[in-house]
Amino acid sequence: MEYTITVLAGDGIGPEVTAEGSKILQAVGARFGHRFILYPALIGGNAIDATGSALPEETVTACRSSDAVLLGAVGGPQWDNPNAKVRPEQGLLGIRKALGLFANLRPVTIHPLLIDASPLRSERLVDVDLLVVRELTGGIYFGEKRREQGQDGEWASDLCIYTQAEIERVVRMAAELARGRHGKLTLVDKANVLETSRLWRSVTTRLMREEFSDLQFDWMLVDACAMHLLRRPSDFDVIVTENMFGDILTDEASMLAGSMGMLPSASLGVGAHGGKRMGLYEPIHGSAPDIAGQGKANPLATILSVALLLRHSLGCEAEAAAIEAAVSNTLESGIVTGDVARPGQRSYHTAEVGDAVAQRI
Ligand code: IPM
Ligand code: MG
Repeated sequence: MEYTITVLAGDGIGPEVTAEGSKILQAVGARFGHRFILYPALIGGNAIDATGSALPEETVTACRSSDAVLLGAVGGPQWDNPNAKVRPEQGLLGIRKALGLFANLRPVTIHPLLIDASPLRSERLVDVDLLVVRELTGGIYFGEKRREQGQDGEWASDLCIYTQAEIERVVRMAAELARGRHGKLTLVDKANVLETSRLWRSVTTRLMREEFSDLQFDWMLVDACAMHLLRRPSDFDVIVTENMFGDILTDEASMLAGSMGMLPSASLGVGAHGGKRMGLYEPIHGSAPDIAGQGKANPLATILSVALLLRHSLGCEAEAAAIEAAVSNTLESGIVTGDVARPGQRSYHTAEVGDAVAQRI
């Protein structure tokens, strides 16, 4: 088969890690007889410098006409002023919205060899295998923003708004994913305070009763969830939650795995391309400008994102599994970057780790 993938390398370590992701796609192509046409496009700070916009129209067009999108990271100190009119993050938020990517999947698993890299005690990490499904195109991120002068000085507001339909589609996806895993869904909200959360609670409870009564379902307040993620992380299977809670909880959950450099993500829209889903795949880490260009970045989160791309957007399960097995094997061979190297263990360069995975495909 022939597939077109738009590659949005972005800023900082983005180009280094997406180069390794692209290398792995080519290795998969060679082994499984596919042809991947990789189409580079601009996003984030580089796009601002080149075009004045964090998300040039050509980038949106390229993404729309490809089978899937692979993204590195956006942002860096030179574009850091939060009051600036154009900011790199607008590229990321804009492409999620433009492609209708309403569900962000952030799986957290811990390879046994990396248990010592986590700040948590190892006994808490046994059997951790959770998936956060974060709503990605609604809520406080996208509601009306205001900033005005009032009698008491300036005031500002961010509207948090959700519709029943927005809640239903992401909960349905999360519940279907739970069905293919351990059969448990946890809704995380703040229904003791927020009206939007009370809507999430009632819509989700009804949907689970009507369509997913075979699953185990519970809910948890977001502050309690922040605590339980550290206290008993192995109790969770699938967590579904609104945009901002999901943003915060997934950074916390990433620490279970020791390094943000290990965790992939998939942002999915509705089915298209003959039943296959449009998706954008990216590591959950940021652009890490402090280590950019030094070959220190861990490419495994991006490489594992390529596996998710093959699985969710192209329907290539065997290919995805081959990448995941190659990554495990690379870790077991001790070929790792400094962020996950154990004391006394050699740290390899970004490209060496990529080469090692590619050889194992
Ligand atoms: C993420 C990031 C983004 C978000 C930022 C960069 C806008 O933190 O993908 O989690 O908040 O969604
Ligand atoms: Mg975040």
